[in-house]
Amino acid sequence: MRQAGRYMESYRRIRSKHEVLEICKTPSLSASVTLDAANLLGVDAAILFADIVLPLEGMGVQLKILDGGPSIEKPLRDAESVEHLEILEPGKHVPFVMDSIRLIQEKLDRGIPLIGFSGAPFTLASYLIEGGPSRDFTVTKKMMYGQPEVWSSLMTKLTDMVSAYLSAQIRAGVDAVQLFDSWSGCLSPSDYGEFVLPYTRKIFDHLEGKGVPRIHFGVGTGGILNTVSKSGGEVFGVDWRIPIDEAWNRLGHVAIQGNLDPAIVLGDWRLVEARTNEILEKTRGRPGHVFNLGHGVLPETRPEQLQKLVKFIHGSTAKRR
Ligand code: CP3
Repeated sequence: MRQAGRYMESYRRIRSKHEVLEICKTPSLSASVTLDAANLLGVDAAILFADIVLPLEGMGVQLKILDGGPSIEKPLRDAESVEHLEILEPGKHVPFVMDSIRLIQEKLDRGIPLIGFSGAPFTLASYLIEGGPSRDFTVTKKMMYGQPEVWSSLMTKLTDMVSAYLSAQIRAGVDAVQLFDSWSGCLSPSDYGEFVLPYTRKIFDHLEGKGVPRIHFGVGTGGILNTVSKSGGEVFGVDWRIPIDEAWNRLGHVAIQGNLDPAIVLGDWRLVEARTNEILEKTRGRPGHVFNLGHGVLPETRPEQLQKLVKFIHGSTAKRR
């Protein structure tokens, strides 16, 4: 995730002329940023350039992406504002996403899969309710606990949106889909089970049998993994706060994605190598590990460090290019 971004010179050049959302809505720009990142790094998969808040605009939400993250003009705090959310029709409201996917697939090296994605209902709800990034998600939890019927109608609308949005991406040609529930780690296992799991499970059920692997990701999910794993999907992505083998044992029979701290690559190469080896040791001999950073690439990262990391991993594992 956030494979493309401000750490790339070519991205900064495009960003100096266009807003993030404008790049997302212009297939030629979104395709070029997606391909630039995958080519620059030499990674084994490309990820569509978009943002999780993009389809919310299609539901009638006014928003901006600022330096710190998305900002919602009128945060949703009551039944009425939830009622006003429109039903997303991907072909009508976000046609550019599918156009970008087709354009990328025309130009992407064969053998390199393209990952499509969506934000998950909880993470999207948190932006809609808080109005922007949050540390403790108090306003979100206040609605979850205090207005359960408003919460359930918001989560239902978002679940339907995500299901339609990811299905449309699959029809347009993505090779895998990733559901980002980035902030679900702020929940207790019971609250995840009661207020989030029914919805994520419905999305994964909806996408079952559509012929693409389903990846589920969250940050700080160490405490809720047993419950999260009931959502379904073939792959789960974890951050660096949990040893990857421990996470894998708790998740059971899925593939695992992760989990190098993205900040490690800002440091000395010897430490990058040591921490990478640790992850490879903990996953060696067990099929189904996708090496990845535990969260997005940080803007201050030097691309050379990431290139060196990709080469190092290819050299130390069965996959050689
Ligand atoms: O290459 C790729 O990974 C595709 C692009 C991508 C973006 N956002 C573009 C972006 C992806 C996969 C996302 C997902 C996303 N967006 C998530 C889920 C994954 C995660 O990181 O947890 C979340 C929570 C968001 C919301 C969001 N958008 C935040 C918190 C921020 C600011 C933080 C940051 O990284 O700068 C954004 C802005 C954003 N989305 C940028 C990019 C490249 C940086 C904005 C810029 O260019 O100024």
